[in-house]
Amino acid sequence: MSKKRIITFGTFDLFHVGHLNILERSKKLGDTLIVGISTDNLNYSKKQKYPLYKQEERLRIVNALGIVDEVFYEESLELKRDYILKYNADILVMGNDWEGKFDEFKDVCEVVYLERTPSISTTEIVEIIRSKD
Ligand code: CTP
Repeated sequence: MSKKRIITFGTFDLFHVGHLNILERSKKLGDTLIVGISTDNLNYSKKQKYPLYKQEERLRIVNALGIVDEVFYEESLELKRDYILKYNADILVMGNDWEGKFDEFKDVCEVVYLERTPSISTTEIVEIIRSKD
């Protein structure tokens, strides 16, 4: 049987256990795990703010995990289809906060939504730290 290639995307700012959980569960769906790290500029264009960690740091952290095989920068949300094709992905994994939003790619790969880890997010971590001031 041919090796299955899994692709997923995210910012992975202030890397936390929710990030680790989804990457571990993604890896279990196949053999090769490829992660698109959204660039600082893409985050700015989406949320009008930059991540706390620079894209080079976010990419290095994710790439250093033993379960991740390839990383690249996601420069634009419009390029998802191109990335899926370029990296020959068999399965696209997204958190279930995106449930249904990526079904348009079912013509080129399997699309799987995994449940988010409850009660943790980068936004929440920042809020908790801020509230301790
Ligand atoms: N994720 C998850 N469980 C969490 C937080 C994130 O499964 N508790 C997943 C997301 O669904 C996504 C990936 O981790 O597939 C990267 O998410 P990202 O948006 O970078 O992390 P968040 O913590 O959700 O960041 P933010 O609060 O800035 O939205």
